[in-house]
Amino acid sequence: MIITGIQPTGNLHIGNYLGAIKPLIALQQNDEDTYAFIADYHAITANFDPASFSQVSRDLVAMILACDFDTERGSIFLQSDVPEHTEMAHILGCTAARVGQLNRMIQFKEKMAALAENEETPSVGLYTYPVLQAADVLLYQDAENGTPTKVPVGDDQSQHLNLVVDIAASFNHRFGDTFILPKPVISTAPRIMSLFDGTKKMSKSDPDDMNRINMSDPADRIVKKFRKATTDQHMICGTVEEIGDRVCLRNLLTIYAAFADMTLDEAVAHFAGKGFGALKGELADIVVATLEPIQARYLDIRERKQAMSQMLGRGAMGASIMASDTLHRVRKAIGIADRNGLGEDEV
Ligand code: TYM
Repeated sequence: MIITGIQPTGNLHIGNYLGAIKPLIALQQNDEDTYAFIADYHAITANFDPASFSQVSRDLVAMILACDFDTERGSIFLQSDVPEHTEMAHILGCTAARVGQLNRMIQFKEKMAALAENEETPSVGLYTYPVLQAADVLLYQDAENGTPTKVPVGDDQSQHLNLVVDIAASFNHRFGDTFILPKPVISTAPRIMSLFDGTKKMSKSDPDDMNRINMSDPADRIVKKFRKATTDQHMICGTVEEIGDRVCLRNLLTIYAAFADMTLDEAVAHFAGKGFGALKGELADIVVATLEPIQARYLDIRERKQAMSQMLGRGAMGASIMASDTLHRVRKAIGIADRNGLGEDEV
């Protein structure tokens, strides 16, 4: 079983594609039970625009489908359509997650610092965000086979997923074995960085669009963005070790390797001794060649609104079957009866 979520917080970019979507599609080839969801209840923890919110979510669904997500082998749904996520989050927040753990979350600290710059304070939801993420993952259990659920994500989610494992373990410790501990699958293109600042992650919510390559960018814009990406004055080195702290070079080579299905070693060997012009040219070519067919499918899927609504309805229904089963077991484990005060067994 596989589960992953993506927030509808802006334009999907190649970091999301390489970090989560491409690995998800690859894993899906060998796994019948795949759940992918739009994390809309996560996205409302920060500023969002109610007028465009629903469209952003649907565009994201269309893009995931255009990347070849197979709805015969899995469900795609909106998190807000499966209320078990928030109910489970409340239970985990009360029984298994601790304030000290949330205080250590780097993403919360970073987001809080960014808000403080504008004299804004974080929402309570932003603080408890990782507990909702734990609920998202732990609802999807392969109880029949006892195999851990795989969670494909980019490296920026490692800390949150380690916390999910900890929360599951402490719940089991307190209430008896209820959860199979999930298995984070961190992408081999671990973290794609901004095109201008190799120390900052490429992000959907970055106000400067030139920092990222959006999945929907036309070819000329992709060429332009790579041409303007930060470089240094040296030639490309001969080994990965020699990249050292040339973070912008490392980032461009990482992107190239991921799109060309090469290791970083192979990508370095391919460009060794060449200048940045050659790297940027080939990089733009390979990214455009990969994205153009995806974009054509995206535009087509996006237009088929009714089919998408039906598919999301089916996806939510499929997810609910699994989620309500897990929630039932969790409620039972903590001694909360289902239905009119009676336990399911007595109904
Ligand atoms: P989000 O929406 O920020 O990102 C979606 C996925 O894309 C990956 N990613 C990246 N990978 C490589 N380089 C980057 N620059 C980059 N930026 C983003 C993320 O690691 C993620 O896999 N908290 C999650 C959403 C979520 C979730 C979950 C994920 C909510 N519940 C349960 C897995 C399981 C998030 O903010 O992703």
